[in-house]
Amino acid sequence: MILATLLLHLWILCSGSACAHNGRQRKWDCTFMEESSNDRTMFAPQIIRRKAFLVFGDMGAEDLQQEKAITFNVKESLLDIFRYVEGEASKLDCEIKRYSTHGIHVPWPEQDKELDRDLLNRWFTVTIKHTEDKFTTTSFLRKVPAPDSQQAADHGTKEDDENSTIGDTDTLLVKVVYIVRTSTPLIRAKLKQDVVLDCSYNIDHNADVIIEWRHEHERKKTKLFSYNGRHRQVEHLEKGVVAFEEQIRNGNASIRIQNLAVKDEGTYICSVYVPPLFGMSIVLLEIMESPIVQMNTEPLELMAGEEQKLTCEMARYYPLDVSVRWLRQWEGQRTLPDYLDNVVFSPHKRNADGTFNLTSFLRFRASLKDSGALYTCRVDHLSLMKTIKRSVSVKVKPQPPGLAVFLIGFCVIVLLAVLIGLLCYLSKSWERNKVKTKALFHFTHLSRDTCVGQ
Ligand SMILES: *[C@@H]1O[C@H](CO)[C@@H](O)[C@H](O)[C@H]1NC(C)=O
Ligand SMILES: *[C@@H]1O[C@H](CO)[C@@H](O)[C@H](O)[C@H]1NC(C)=O
Ligand SMILES: *[C@@H]1O[C@H](CO)[C@@H](O)[C@H](O)[C@H]1NC(C)=O
Repeated sequence: MILATLLLHLWILCSGSACAHNGRQRKWDCTFMEESSNDRTMFAPQIIRRKAFLVFGDMGAEDLQQEKAITFNVKESLLDIFRYVEGEASKLDCEIKRYSTHGIHVPWPEQDKELDRDLLNRWFTVTIKHTEDKFTTTSFLRKVPAPDSQQAADHGTKEDDENSTIGDTDTLLVKVVYIVRTSTPLIRAKLKQDVVLDCSYNIDHNADVIIEWRHEHERKKTKLFSYNGRHRQVEHLEKGVVAFEEQIRNGNASIRIQNLAVKDEGTYICSVYVPPLFGMSIVLLEIMESPIVQMNTEPLELMAGEEQKLTCEMARYYPLDVSVRWLRQWEGQRTLPDYLDNVVFSPHKRNADGTFNLTSFLRFRASLKDSGALYTCRVDHLSLMKTIKRSVSVKVKPQPPGLAVFLIGFCVIVLLAVLIGLLCYLSKSWERNKVKTKALFHFTHLSRDTCVGQ
């Protein structure tokens, strides 16, 4: 047993910064964030940001003097942050904060006997986030006294409580004592899938932890899982949630959510309590379902002047926001497409599984100059890497000649009828007036024959 513990310690030591980095120094750019203590207005407390470095290994004096920044110098610790952080420095976001135990005094077991554990109770957290959501790691730093004894004695005074001021160029010696991490800070998944919400922890000594997973969605909070390290047992497990019980003691507190439904969306909080420190990992779960897009796709043939309605139907997508644009373009032509705005939408319809349907309608009047155009409905949605396009080609024919001929003929007949009526009237009035010239007489006879029944 003792041998095993010894081996374990050796292993941890060698995987820790001492061996892995072999004295190599590394420096990270961080931001030290704290609430302003003198500006407590009725509004939210003001956050002050200052530049800080997290430095591993021994520093030369020249490194310290270069820039105005607070330096957190990480002493050889059993835990190595590097093991839980990967990726280029430019993709890492590092924030250091004070951590208050809110008056809870639980001594932290100290491997280093020279430390007087009761006098030093200053904690910090450093949270390193990958900007592309590959992981979030929160490490707890414990302040340790400077090696020279006079300073160590100074740090033991009452001034050195958890809120004592830190100057802009101060150097603090710290140890990493506890790390919580998730490799799934953001999960986007489809309905009915199973997902693993990752949460792992490492502590620099054997400790009884209390683990809890909570789910928060639209102000509804649900406890999903709890584990008591002292009794080594799972005390609560919600339906549809799976825990990996045999792995919890090795620092893996992940859970699996089965058969995802829309209601499973939201924020998941994994808290690992190692008295007096509350470690927390947050996992956001988003449900993503891509729309199934359909349009009445048979090519259309229309008459010039005819009204037409095109429909573009988006089915079974989630979340609600979707963007639809209609445009008209000509195949093979390099002109910019016309965006069309005579568009109306049906109300959203909700399916039983929580997904949505929406239909968009485009109205237009066919015109000869638009013949051969391609009408396209373009759909964009958060779940899509690429826009979905559905098109229909529209040919426009001129009005058929038959109708025009009919119309012209009709007009001619009406005109003729009016003319004849007029002539009959005229001939009558001439007769009444007894005006008889040869030409007119002849003409009246002609009219008489035509105006039957007069
Ligand atoms: C330090 O500040 C925190 C937050 O402002 C507060 O909760 C805590 O009680 C303070 N601690 C001491 C020892 O004053
Ligand atoms: C924790 O265990 C689960 C289930 O075996 C696994 O999928 C996950 O990757 C583990 N997490 C870590 C950090 O090892
Ligand atoms: C949504 O569209 C799909 C596919 O067209 C259809 O099967 C389903 O019934 C529609 N849902 C509603 C609520 O109209």
